[in-house]
Formats: sequence, C-alpha cells, structure tokens
Amino acid sequence: LPGVAAAAAASAPPHLLLICFPGQGHVNPMLRLAKRVAAKGLLVTFSSLASVGARLAAASGVSAGGDGVPVGRGRVRFEFLEDGDPGPDLDDLMRHLETAGPPAFAALLRRQAEEGRPVACVVANNPFMPWASAVAAAEGIPTAVLWVQSYAVFSLYYYHAHGLVEFPPEDDPAARFKLPGLPEMSATDVPSFLLPSNPFKLLADAIITQFRTIGRATWVLVNSFAELEADVVAALPGVTPRPPELIPVGPLIELQQGEEEEEEEDAVRGDLIKAADDCVGWLDAQPPRSVVYASVGSVVVLSPGEVAEMAHGLASTGRPFLWVVRPDTQPHLPAGFLDSVSGRGAVVPWSPQERVLAHPSTACFLTHCGWNSTLETVAAGVPVVAFPQWGDQCTDARFLVEELGMGVRLRAAPAGLRREAVRDAVEAAVAGPRAGDMLASARRWSAAARAAVAPGGSSDANVQAFVDEVAR
Ligand code: UDX
Repeated sequence: LPGVAAAAAASAPPHLLLICFPGQGHVNPMLRLAKRVAAKGLLVTFSSLASVGARLAAASGVSAGGDGVPVGRGRVRFEFLEDGDPGPDLDDLMRHLETAGPPAFAALLRRQAEEGRPVACVVANNPFMPWASAVAAAEGIPTAVLWVQSYAVFSLYYYHAHGLVEFPPEDDPAARFKLPGLPEMSATDVPSFLLPSNPFKLLADAIITQFRTIGRATWVLVNSFAELEADVVAALPGVTPRPPELIPVGPLIELQQGEEEEEEEDAVRGDLIKAADDCVGWLDAQPPRSVVYASVGSVVVLSPGEVAEMAHGLASTGRPFLWVVRPDTQPHLPAGFLDSVSGRGAVVPWSPQERVLAHPSTACFLTHCGWNSTLETVAAGVPVVAFPQWGDQCTDARFLVEELGMGVRLRAAPAGLRREAVRDAVEAAVAGPRAGDMLASARRWSAAARAAVAPGGSSDANVQAFVDEVAR
C-alpha cells in the first residue's frame, strides 16, 4: 500500500548514517556519537567496512540489518559496506578505500532510501575517508564530519595544510615554534604524520588534503570539550583563511551513571577484540588506588625488546598491574614472566578500558596517549605515564603532561626503552613528590569533562542543537 508506506516514512524519525574509518580509535567515538544522537530521538545507522562488521560481530555480538536496538528515545542499527578485502598496512588500506569505498557507500545510501529509511544526514570520518562527503553530496545528502582528535591537533594540521607554519627540525627538540592558541612547541609535539620522517605518505596526504576542503561539510563536530582546550578554541576563528566553525560534542565516553544505563550501553558495544571477562573482578580484589593499568591501544606495536623492558619494568614497581598485551604481541612476553608475576600482575588481550579507569583500585594509566585513551583518563580523573609513539599521540602527551598537569613522561633512551625508566615514571606518577598535584588536576579535569556531557552541559547542548538541525 504505497499511501501507508509514505505516511509511515513521514512519521519516522530522521535517519542519520555514520560511515566510519576501520580502526578501533575511530569506531569508539563514532559509535558513542551514534548513541548520543540516538538517545535524543534519531534513527542511527553505523556503517563501516565489511571486515569491521565481521570483527564487531565476533567480539561484541553486533548484527547487521534489521531495526537495531533501542538507545534512549531512538535506535542504533548496523550495516556494512560490501568492499572486498583491504590490504595489510595503512597505505594499502587507503588505496583500497579510494577505489572500493565510493561505489560501495553509494549503494549503501541508495539501499536505505529503497527500504524506506532515506538518509537525512551522513556523519563521516572525512579526513581519513576523503570521498565520503562527495558520495553523500552526489546523493543530495548533507554531511557532518566528526574530527576524532583534539582541537590542538586539528589546528596543527590546519596551519600546516594552509602553509601557515614551518615546523623546526625533528632532531632539534630545543627549537621551538609558537602558534595562536597553542603553547610553545617543538617538532616532537607535532602529529608525526606532518614530519619528514613519516612513513605513511598516502594517509598523511589524505588528511592534509581534507584540511583544505573540510569547510564543505555542513557541520564539523569535534570529540573534545570547550573547557578542555579553551585557548585553541578561542584562537581558531581568528585564523586566515578562516576555518569552519567547530562544534565540540565530547568527550565521547560511555557514561557509567546508573545500572540501567550501563545495560543499555552494553547492548551496543564497539570492541573489535573481545574484552577479558575477569578484569573488574580482579580489580575488586586489589587495594584502593594501587593498580598500574597499562595499554598502548589498538594499533601501536612495541618491539620485542620494548615488550620485555615494559614487562620487567612493571614487575619491578612492586605494585599490582593490569597490562593489555594484544594477541599479536603476547609471543614477545619474556619466558616465565606470567608465572613470575602471578597474583600481582594480570595480562589480558583486551580490557573494558573505561570500566578499568573508573575503578577505585586504579592508580595510574601508562598510556600511548591515543586521543580516546586521553579523554577517557581525563574523564575518569586518573593520572598518566605518557608513552606516545606516533601520530597525534605526540601532541596529546604534551597536553596531558604539561598543559593539564595530569602526569609524567616515559621516555625511551636513544638505545631504547629501559625497565628502570618504566619503574621510575610509574613511581613519579603514583607516589612521587608531585603525585598529589597530578591527582588533584586529574580530578578537576574529570569534573569538567563530566559536566560538559551531563544534561545541559556545553557538549550536550551542542549535540542537542545538531540533532534539532538534522530533524528540521
Ligand atoms: C588510533 C590512534 O593511535 C589515536 O592516536 C587516534 O587518536 C585514534 O586512532 P588507538 O591507538 O587505538 O587509536 O588509541 P585510542 O584513541 O586511545 O583508542 C583506543 C580505544 O580502545 C579506546 O577507546 C580504549 O578505551 C579502547 N581500548 C583499548 C579498550 O577498550 N580496551 C583495551 O584493552 C585497549
């Protein structure tokens, strides 16, 4: 009955479709944004590559198609592109996406309309999937971009893409530069993709190109909050050429506020590796503020030598530790290590990280400073041992330690990471003379982060305004 179908479509909630770059550090903020806007009444479809769909199904029980699951006043559903197989490294992936992405995404958008769910707005991870908004525009659909990193990183890319800055040489950390809204920095604080030594040329080109065209998106949402990066937020509108208006909607974290909400959150999880079941139980058995939690996120690969030094370093702190060692890295653990630390140290392939950070037993976070990990530790109020490796992690570490005052650096010596450095950095963050100040700063930032996303907070109000515009 065409009349009935048309009437049903007219009364249906507006449909927002997200297209997500295939990485855990992108899936988490995109899916959390999906849940935020669904909670305010939209129908939301989360999409990514078929390979991501297969991993989400295996690790998080996500299933594609159908009506999805209720989240607040809306629903979240999943659909995956029929894109074939990406290659093994980042530049192969960029090449694959360039050719396979656009036709598969156009087909996905058309199918939504054919099935009675026409898409009102696309949210794209644009800088990493530069074709997504062009495909949406060709279908007559407006795009919002979600920038999944910080304002500081956004502005460094923006200044670079527009030829407004020249970074000092990488091998001269004493050489500094100064840009509006940012503290004095050295090349080691810059996202490493912008430096001559960067090996991922296609990825860097895609990101930089997007910074010349990002203003074409109708909305640019940012996973940060205005209070956290006030100076950069204030400086950006004064830059020429003028950047697009950036709308802070973060921190995109899971809000663990009440049991009911947690169950709902758990109905839509985005883990690409299944989290170990027993982490929270293990933390329950440890004394308050005693545990060192260590993780380098989903993509950083430590060398076998670094894994061994990290292992001995964590063991030598004498403190309980929970260490995420992904399955691909576990073969590099020193022989007999797990037995030697049994009871005091736990090694897991993947953790429910936000729950770990929120747990009262957790004392500090030895982190690679991915932006999600950064925001999660800010929201939880947990001091850090910052161990950045590449990309935006370098900038995030600078902010966590020097601007937010939430921790210390772990630096590898020229000959590589040493166990004594691990031990000393952990001690400084947990029990050193400045540890109390770091904890106090972390708690202040935690309160600000939670206020930003609480009902009526600065970021929550921006999410509501965005939803209202999509629904108009
Ligand atoms: C990558 C880049 O490294 C990062 O710098 C960029 O900002 C986003 O893309 P990744 O390295 O995986 O991300 O780090 P991060 O941004 O911290 O994201 C990792 C996510 O996985 C976090 O949300 C974290 O909570 C989650 N995680 C990590 C777990 O749930 N369990 C774990 O054991 C480890």
